[in-house]
Amino acid sequence: MTKRIGILTSGGDCAGLNATIRAVALRAHHGHGWTTVGIHYGTLGLLERPVAAEALDVGRLDAAMARQGGTFLGSTNRGDPFAFPMPDGSRKDRSGEMVDGLRLLGLEGLIGIGGDGSLDILRRLLAPSGMPFVGIPKTIDNDVANTERAIGYTTAVAVATEALDRLQPTGASHARVMVLEVMGRDAGHIAVAAGIAGGADVVLIPEVPWHLERVVAHIAGLRAGGRSSALVVVAEAAGQSDEAADAASDAPEHGVGEWLARRLSQATGAEARATVLGHVQRGAMPTAEDRLLAAALGVRAVDLLAEGKADRMVAWWNRQVIDVPLAKVVGRSRTVDRDGTLVRTARALGICLGDAA
Ligand code: F6P
Repeated sequence: MTKRIGILTSGGDCAGLNATIRAVALRAHHGHGWTTVGIHYGTLGLLERPVAAEALDVGRLDAAMARQGGTFLGSTNRGDPFAFPMPDGSRKDRSGEMVDGLRLLGLEGLIGIGGDGSLDILRRLLAPSGMPFVGIPKTIDNDVANTERAIGYTTAVAVATEALDRLQPTGASHARVMVLEVMGRDAGHIAVAAGIAGGADVVLIPEVPWHLERVVAHIAGLRAGGRSSALVVVAEAAGQSDEAADAASDAPEHGVGEWLARRLSQATGAEARATVLGHVQRGAMPTAEDRLLAAALGVRAVDLLAEGKADRMVAWWNRQVIDVPLAKVVGRSRTVDRDGTLVRTARALGICLGDAA
């Protein structure tokens, strides 16, 4: 009988998931003669009977799939097996039902594509069953520990950069301060990278505590020097810094971007406008770089299962695919290095990070 492995996508979607699923199924088929079963809506599909899943037909995994955004399998970030939300508002441990679902599919291994939270849950779900599990990192936030890249990140940076490219001319035409709020639940990777690429004047991230008056002074300096407009990038999590502590009460509906635009306008006298980029950063066609990463990580994940290695995550490090124990990934995160190359580059270009440096 042909060996069957499962694959699922878990947590928030991003660009490059379909390319990853495709790479896994192609490698399983061409490299090992295995069948890949795609599970629908992450762990949620495992609760249905029959289990919501499909054997992937490699004949249909064409180039169109590599470039499609989203995940054709569906995903969830509401399916914690150990505290599953029930209709009456209570929480129930449904991990046993999910493991039964995996057994009903006749799987001999599982590959999960997720951020560190999803990988942690899947690891704990499979541990008692003894079923081998390999994780593939994805998240536009790029904050998974022990990998330099997570799938979806370079696409999100490209989208945010394009947004700055579009905001700059309209801002210049109207002598406005244009504030772009980008995603990043806990980390400022997208903000720093897009800020440099898009020529921002100010980049605010949670890793660098910032002060409103320094941002105001920087913009005032630009205006005094003859520049009428400015580009400001703020990571959604930058609102966690002390300086924006009152953002929540000030602008509960709109977050740090709206709050910042209002404050900058009040303090500098310039007109300011905020754009909250939001999920636009997740739904795009993946960049070539994300597709390459998907291919390299997907292939290696399958080969790890073939080598009998499990409880590991494939990772990108120093231009190589490596694999690391999941124990060294879960419960950690990789935030922006305040002394790293990108932050130093930003400073060297004269970009204001809102701090004293
Ligand atoms: O982790 C990815 C991410 O897009 C974050 O950048 C963002 O804070 C969060 O997910 C949004 O989650 P949701 O799609 O549940 O609103």
